[in-house]
Amino acid sequence: SMAVNLDKVGHEVSPMLYGLMTEEINYAYDGGIYAEIIRNRSFQDDRNNPVHWSLFSEKQGGTIKLDHKTFLNRNNPVSLMLDVPVSENITGIANDGFWGVPVKPATVYKGFFYAKADFDGDHRFSVSIRGDSADPTVYATAIVKKSGADWNKYSFELTTKQDIKPTSNARFVITTAQKGRYWFSVTSLFPPTFRNTPNGNRPDIMQLLSDMKPAFLRLPGGNFLEGGKFSSRYDWKKTLGPLENRPGHMGTWGYRASDGMGLLEYLRWCEDLNMEPLLAVFAGYTLGGDHLEGAYLQPFIDEALDEIEYVIGDVNTKWGAQRAKDGHPKAFPLRYIEIGNEDFFDRSGSYKERFAQFYKAIKTKYPQMTIISTSGKEFDVPGGKADMIDDHYYRNASEMEGMSTQYDDYDRNGPKVIVGEWATREGSPTPNFNAALGDAAWLTGLERNSDVVLMSCYAPLFVNVNPGGMQWKSDLIGYNALNSYGSPSYYVQKMFSNHLGDKYVPIQAENIPTQFETLNEKDIASGRKPRKIPAMFYVATKDSKKKLLYLKLVNTQNKAQKVNIDITGTEQILPAATLVELSAMYPEATNSIKEPTNIVPVKSDIRINGNAFTRELPAYSIAVIVLKIK
Ligand code: AHR
Repeated sequence: SMAVNLDKVGHEVSPMLYGLMTEEINYAYDGGIYAEIIRNRSFQDDRNNPVHWSLFSEKQGGTIKLDHKTFLNRNNPVSLMLDVPVSENITGIANDGFWGVPVKPATVYKGFFYAKADFDGDHRFSVSIRGDSADPTVYATAIVKKSGADWNKYSFELTTKQDIKPTSNARFVITTAQKGRYWFSVTSLFPPTFRNTPNGNRPDIMQLLSDMKPAFLRLPGGNFLEGGKFSSRYDWKKTLGPLENRPGHMGTWGYRASDGMGLLEYLRWCEDLNMEPLLAVFAGYTLGGDHLEGAYLQPFIDEALDEIEYVIGDVNTKWGAQRAKDGHPKAFPLRYIEIGNEDFFDRSGSYKERFAQFYKAIKTKYPQMTIISTSGKEFDVPGGKADMIDDHYYRNASEMEGMSTQYDDYDRNGPKVIVGEWATREGSPTPNFNAALGDAAWLTGLERNSDVVLMSCYAPLFVNVNPGGMQWKSDLIGYNALNSYGSPSYYVQKMFSNHLGDKYVPIQAENIPTQFETLNEKDIASGRKPRKIPAMFYVATKDSKKKLLYLKLVNTQNKAQKVNIDITGTEQILPAATLVELSAMYPEATNSIKEPTNIVPVKSDIRINGNAFTRELPAYSIAVIVLKIK
């Protein structure tokens, strides 16, 4: 049974509680949210081979290869050389996209490519989206012309016909009918983007995110911020400006990042979804363990100060002016700065000092910033005490359920917390329903403690579900070139974030069912006996403006559970209420790219009979009951 006294509301609920975390992992950007269709668009993905590019030749003949001597600029020091031996033979280059080129009916695709020829005069290319090598279908085509033997930028639009079926069995092709030697450099192709934002994001994935109503975006990582070595750290200055000037860099997860999703694109992503950026700055430590200290760290501190200026500086500042030049004169909001990532792994022991140096410099110039430490244990450091600490949890469902009390005894005078990465890791590529149960149980604990846990964000956010697309399993949202879907865990967050009040309302609960925890391999090896943990989880918050009470209930058992709920206090609840329920027949049930909506929340109108009522929670279910207060 559960008793709620509406006269006894507790602490304020952090309005920043639900946010997002992002980094380039699992083909999150190119091949994911960032709408670029061309894979290996600057030919730098592999030094020796033009991977994802092939020769297109209607008859016989023609060759392609990488040329490191002829290139557009120093940031793109390689080109694709095409030899066309005879005229009148349609010859060219084809790109196979990120596991296919997404073709949709009546859609305008915009693109450009750089090319040069070994002869002067007029150059005429045909660009097209067409079927894969066995399929002669042409979905859209256009002609582009320029003259002169130097590099030219060719821009084009391709419009597909109305009567085609969506497919990703397609290629992007550039051809010529004129004999000669040609070189190609940066090539780009975009479908329409969310809100038509330039160099923007895929509408389907943005819509999934928008539906979560996230308050912030923690960017740009994760390990992606740190890099394996200094040359592959997140060097934000190299991610600005026209695409053809961005060098890209080797990412942390085994593939190159084009950096088309650059700092400005991250900020525009925030703007489009009304989120605040949480900016993690590179803190002079790389994943390889290499780091800099003292005066040697100063260039990276300056780099971070410049970065903050790029985000919030007005157009009269050096970096504010650069942002205006890049197309966004208006400053962005910014309140949260994180120093590094997961420095609790720092093998050098240098974080205390590094943190203090960054802290001092940032607070001196920008006293309004909330500074986040990534090493919980070491938040109190010489020269600076972290305003917040970033805790990370990757566990199985039973552990997450057992840990729903994690912050109940947290020192209320200590620094505030962001749970900057967390996930119940069961299911692949995206989490299954058991993980969703673990998530929901965990989140009841975060809402209960949202006086100290001010922010939280699941990680990783994205996965490209194609073979080879995933480096880290159990990711919130999955996709391929054409479609995307939310995992059961995604729907838990959407339900929780969409029904969050501004005041926590304590619940007095009795006779809560229990379960034995499932031990992980380490626990079994240690000889530890399984403990009893709750099998039902609950939390309530009140929306004072809308006069609503949100009651969240999680039943992890394999059987239905009746709950008696008694609501007391001077305020009364109305009989008409809403139930949003997410449930599954068995814990391993899940969503996938083929069955994207197997498990989705079901909304229904319910009636509550008086202030004391009984609800039956189905086996394996997560419910939000929305009660109206008179
Ligand atoms: O989310 C995957 C990785 O987990 C992040 O890059 C890192 O911060 C953490 O170890």
